[in-house]
Amino acid sequence: MSGCKHASNGTFAEDWGHWIDQWTDPRQRRTFVMKARVLWTHQPLHAIGLFRLSSWCRRHHIPMLPEMLRRLNTVLYGLDIVSSIPIGGGLYLPHTVGTVIMAERIGRNVTIVSNVTIGMRHTGVFPTIGDDVYIGAGARVLGPITIGDGAVIGANAVVLTDIPPGATAVGVPAKIIRKSGQERQNAMPEARTEY
Ligand SMILES: CC(C)(COP(=O)(O)OP(=O)(O)OC[C@H]1O[C@@H](n2cnc3c(N)ncnc32)[C@H](O)[C@@H]1OP(=O)(O)O)[C@@H](O)C(=O)NCCC(=O)NCCS
Repeated sequence: MSGCKHASNGTFAEDWGHWIDQWTDPRQRRTFVMKARVLWTHQPLHAIGLFRLSSWCRRHHIPMLPEMLRRLNTVLYGLDIVSSIPIGGGLYLPHTVGTVIMAERIGRNVTIVSNVTIGMRHTGVFPTIGDDVYIGAGARVLGPITIGDGAVIGANAVVLTDIPPGATAVGVPAKIIRKSGQERQNAMPEARTEY
């Protein structure tokens, strides 16, 4: 199963770039003011910035700061994200509140909506999330499983098994309702219209 083969630590610039793509008109020239406005107006992007800083501090063996920044993220934004997780660039968390993230690794351009738990099931082994994965609000992704590249996890799903690349899974426990390549009836929620 594929999924996040090359995941490494992304940068805040990549995350910010993803948000700029979501929130500005691609036909317009992207001025500094436009980019700064995206940074100023989107609180979740500040939470992602705190995570990237905490992760950077951990990689540079700076004592105490990673844990302090993690706690600050929880207090300010309701986001509990462990600083040691390698997460690719382009992270998109449109609403951070209630989300807990502890994964083996997370790929590039992943969207995680609000109140999501990614964590262990019985033992201390955590999920691996591929590139371009979308995880809907309230979903739980638990245990030593792999969510393949481009997979979609529905709102409130409880995912306990591997999900192949490109598949859509919903329900409790989550079942695959659409495999890769099968057409969907409705468009996926677009960040610009949805939030
Ligand atoms: C999973 C999701 C992407 C599926 O969208 P889709 O591919 O367009 O699928 P459809 O809406 O055509 O639904 C297909 C089937 O799955 C069911 N279904 C869809 N989402 C479901 C969910 N989250 N839980 C349980 N069943 C679900 C539908 O009822 C439908 O069942 P039916 O064929 O028996 O009628 C979407 O429903 C979803 O959950 N998006 C998350 C959005 C979100 O988190 N929003 C929060 C914003 S703050």
